[in-house]
Amino acid sequence: SLIVPSVQELAKEPLSKIPHRYHRPHQESPSIPSDYHLPSVPIIDFQKLAADDFIGSELERLHSACKDWGFFQVVNHGVSLKLLDEFKLEIENFFKLPHEDKKLLWQTPDDHEGFGQLFVVSEDQKLDWSDMFYIPRYHSIFVREIMEVYCTEVKNLAMRTLDYMAKALKMDGEEMRAMFDDGVQAMRMNYYPPCPQPDMTIGFSPHSDADALTILFQLDETEGLQVRKDGKWIPIKPLPNAFVVNIGDIMEILSNGIYRSIEHRAVVNSTKQRLSIATFYSSKLDRELGPAHSLIVPNNPAIFRRVPLEKYFKEFFAQKLNGKGYLDFMRIKNN
Ligand code: SIN
Ligand code: FE2
Repeated sequence: SLIVPSVQELAKEPLSKIPHRYHRPHQESPSIPSDYHLPSVPIIDFQKLAADDFIGSELERLHSACKDWGFFQVVNHGVSLKLLDEFKLEIENFFKLPHEDKKLLWQTPDDHEGFGQLFVVSEDQKLDWSDMFYIPRYHSIFVREIMEVYCTEVKNLAMRTLDYMAKALKMDGEEMRAMFDDGVQAMRMNYYPPCPQPDMTIGFSPHSDADALTILFQLDETEGLQVRKDGKWIPIKPLPNAFVVNIGDIMEILSNGIYRSIEHRAVVNSTKQRLSIATFYSSKLDRELGPAHSLIVPNNPAIFRRVPLEKYFKEFFAQKLNGKGYLDFMRIKNN
């Protein structure tokens, strides 16, 4: 990745126009439509998921959300609100650190850990209106205690979600667990400063996630995340203390296309900053990526190729974000 300037610092200057490199005039209406009815991303109540009957159950709603939206919000998730409050404060303070301190934590050309942006491959490439801090692989020695507790709690939520998904997909639960045991957990904290020309730029370019499952925590109720649904960008209204969970490319491949890794993006606004924290779950790099063996039967042939996961990630990070282009590359062509 190339080194980029801090957007947070840039936004502190009195600007009436954004610099050229953030100019993205061809975005499809980034502003949030307020006056007409749009469908909304499903809300799944984790306390209701344990029911036994599938038809009409919360598990069936989860299954539909994964198939039709690739996104849902989770309430009653069991992660303590006290922890979430403490974590919020920690992250807000982290982004308030003086720029001089942050510079020591900036990305370098051959390491994308730290502050900066990902997927920047050329000097003339347009940039997103945001800073992020990326932790490619979570090590407990690296992070503060509160972060460690958060990572453990959210991982536990991810594992429960994967179990429910296996059940809903009628996939062998052991196969799901074997795929994600001892998995890789990465984290990306996003900071979107207010922007003088929000309709002229984008906070986070459209993309689908390369991981299996992403768990997003939004620090306040400022809207920004949008999901592409039937050709329209649908805003997600953050519910307080809920998580947004989305299906990544690995899960689309593992479910043999039943669950969908959907394109999403973040837009910005002129008055409010927005912070979000994405935790990404993937399998250990020694696993093979491909459709689950327990889902492949003669009348449901594999639609994706099998590749070593290490190869999959190497190729993913070498390119710039391009909608769902990478997933298409994994698809088995009919002929
Ligand atoms: C993303 O991680 O794709 C965007 C996260 C956000 O909503 O800020
Ligand atoms: Fe994403």
